Amino acid sequence: MSKKPKPKVTLHIDDKHFDLPVRQGTEGEMGLDITRLRERTSLVTYDNGYGNTGSCESQVTYIHGENSILRYRGYPIEQLAEHSDFVETAYLVIYGDLPTATQRAQFSALLTENAAIHERMVYLFESYPRDAHPMSLLSAMVNALACYYPHLATNNIDRDMVNINEAAASLISKVRTITAMAYRMSRGLPIIYPKRSLKYCENFLHMMFSEPYDLYKCEPEVARALNLILLLHADHEQNCSTATVRMVASSGANLFASAAAGVCALWGPFHGGANQAVIEMLQAIHDSGDDGTHYIAEAKDGDRRLMGFGHRIYKNYDPRAKIIGRACEQLLNKLGLDDPLLQIAHKLEQAALNDEYFIERKLYPNVDFYSGIMMRAIGIPLNMFTVMFAIGRMPGWVANWREVASGKPRIYRPRQIYVGHTQRDYVPVEKRG
Ligand code: ACO
Repeated sequence: MSKKPKPKVTLHIDDKHFDLPVRQGTEGEMGLDITRLRERTSLVTYDNGYGNTGSCESQVTYIHGENSILRYRGYPIEQLAEHSDFVETAYLVIYGDLPTATQRAQFSALLTENAAIHERMVYLFESYPRDAHPMSLLSAMVNALACYYPHLATNNIDRDMVNINEAAASLISKVRTITAMAYRMSRGLPIIYPKRSLKYCENFLHMMFSEPYDLYKCEPEVARALNLILLLHADHEQNCSTATVRMVASSGANLFASAAAGVCALWGPFHGGANQAVIEMLQAIHDSGDDGTHYIAEAKDGDRRLMGFGHRIYKNYDPRAKIIGRACEQLLNKLGLDDPLLQIAHKLEQAALNDEYFIERKLYPNVDFYSGIMMRAIGIPLNMFTVMFAIGRMPGWVANWREVASGKPRIYRPRQIYVGHTQRDYVPVEKRG
């Protein structure tokens, strides 16, 4: 616990003074508590993009963007990446502590129990166009879980909390089945059902790549790489999609509806969609014969963004990018793959890190810069990269949903500064023009 004294903050408005309380986090972060600001002063705050707004208190994840620190429940991401796996980390993120051996086994069993999806959901897949974007499908299917498992999604917070363990395991386990099914059906391939004997990542790869007549042989390096990708995405405090999940949860909506909204928020190219955009960028650079010089020049002119670079919070290296960059290299070496996009990514990174434009703006590679190259090596198709991010992020969304649900939620309802017309009178259509 930090011993920094809390500052005394007074707001002066004309000749009036208002003392504002300060809230202090366990890592010494401080936030002005403006809960009663409007009531006392009739002012609201304005914070475009919420860059200075703490929307909640949370115990899940701590980030210090200037010092490249990311911790889940207090544990440094580097230690988890080295020693843990996705399922254990999911437990940690959701329940707050690393599981004992018994808790770990029970959690795994619950995931296994809940891996299959209701058989009638297959008809939903069938009604979608074959080339539907898997993120669109994923959000629809996650929301549809509320219809097929209504006892887990009553929209009564107290009742939903009674069943949260089953709902959480269902979401984390079924999302993997849904993803693999979407992939198989988009290719006209027979559905492969989950196997009870397989671990989480191995089971996903089995459902993706096995054939009825030929079982997929999972290399341990590939399972390890997938575990790492998912684990590194497990939570990231109040980003766009998690804030969306909390927003929806604050209305009393069930876990599946809240997570479906999170999937939609994640889809955009400035957020989770960046991992797909990075590969598209690298491929375009490769195809054009550019070594990245032109692309960087265009990014500096403001015509494009260097995808996989920059972050709202990290003004230093994203610690996840460091881990994933190294792991990507190791995986490609182990699999004997030589991906030309990796060479281009290295060149771009070096060029950007030494360029005044990127240095001044503190733009560094983020988690998406190398994750796509790793997913390509595993065999995940490009349009599913953001879906993989979503699978990884489910524990974080569950943990945040739980925090909202267990804390007597106050509905999230920001204010605005209205800048539209002042009152005017209705004009009949014949008099307009
Ligand atoms: N390439 C080139 N310039 C950039 C980039 C980039 N990737 N990112 C930011 N900048 C520039 C902006 O043009 C701006 O320059 P200016 O001050 O001259 O106008 C300055 O850096 C600050 O940028 P903002 O947009 O204010 O930064 P913000 O915090 O709002 O955005 C974001 C963060 C969205 C991640 C941004 O850096 C970006 O678009 N990056 C590329 C997309 C990406 O990789 N997204 C994934 C983020 S990680 C995740 O969500 C998992």
